[in-house]
Amino acid sequence: MIFEKIALEKVDSTNTVAQSHIRGDLDHAIVVVADEQSAGRGRLGRTWASPKGNLYCSLLLPPTDDCTVDPRLSFVAANAVYETVSGFVEERAAVSIKWPNDILIHGKKVSGILLEAVNKDNKIFTIAGVGINVVSETVERVPPEIAANVTALHLHGPQSTTRDEVLDSFLKRFDSWYARYRNDGFGPIRKFWNSHCNTIDEKVEIPSRKLEGISKGINDKGQLVLETQHGRIAVDSDEIRLSSQ
Ligand code: BTN
Repeated sequence: MIFEKIALEKVDSTNTVAQSHIRGDLDHAIVVVADEQSAGRGRLGRTWASPKGNLYCSLLLPPTDDCTVDPRLSFVAANAVYETVSGFVEERAAVSIKWPNDILIHGKKVSGILLEAVNKDNKIFTIAGVGINVVSETVERVPPEIAANVTALHLHGPQSTTRDEVLDSFLKRFDSWYARYRNDGFGPIRKFWNSHCNTIDEKVEIPSRKLEGISKGINDKGQLVLETQHGRIAVDSDEIRLSSQ
């Protein structure tokens, strides 16, 4: 896939900038990367602290023919981030994926993904926003209760790792997982995600749904399968918010 790269210094949110590049005849992917964000967005309406040194990027994908929002792309991106992060840390076994698409090192969050979709003239454009913490200041600057759950690549691997190296690696790996998804379907994506998820066969809670059960990994639709007291339940990720343009 060809990525047109747009590198900026400070933006509100790279997802918002990516959205402004949507046009009906888009036939390639655009990646927007920024040094800093003043209004970085996280999942579930949260904010994403965005100091300099970390990776903030958004991929705007060309529309596909099927005209539907595809939540499975969030797992394509998660696999690519998982591999990217693994390549920059000393202890690869310490890296895991948490439902739906957080990447953790030793159980602490190093990366998050925000998938958004926009309907323009009945074509669906997907934007995958990815934040990867590179520098340790990220952890030092946040309140202690948050710092306990957050980490950065420099705390687990070479201090010389740069944002651009992380971006290059991510784009290569995304390209490869995306091609696999388009050619071979969701099976290989799901298999990889499940084999690196941190909670397979463990008790998990989904507070936003008031659900509790044993996690069985994701199914073919990208839903998390939980074994609960009332039987098996498949939970949708609230991942993609669809808006119109
Ligand atoms: C999460 O809550 O885990 C998702 C965080 C996603 C943050 C990234 S940083 C680049 C892109 N631009 C944004 O405003 N958000 C995403």
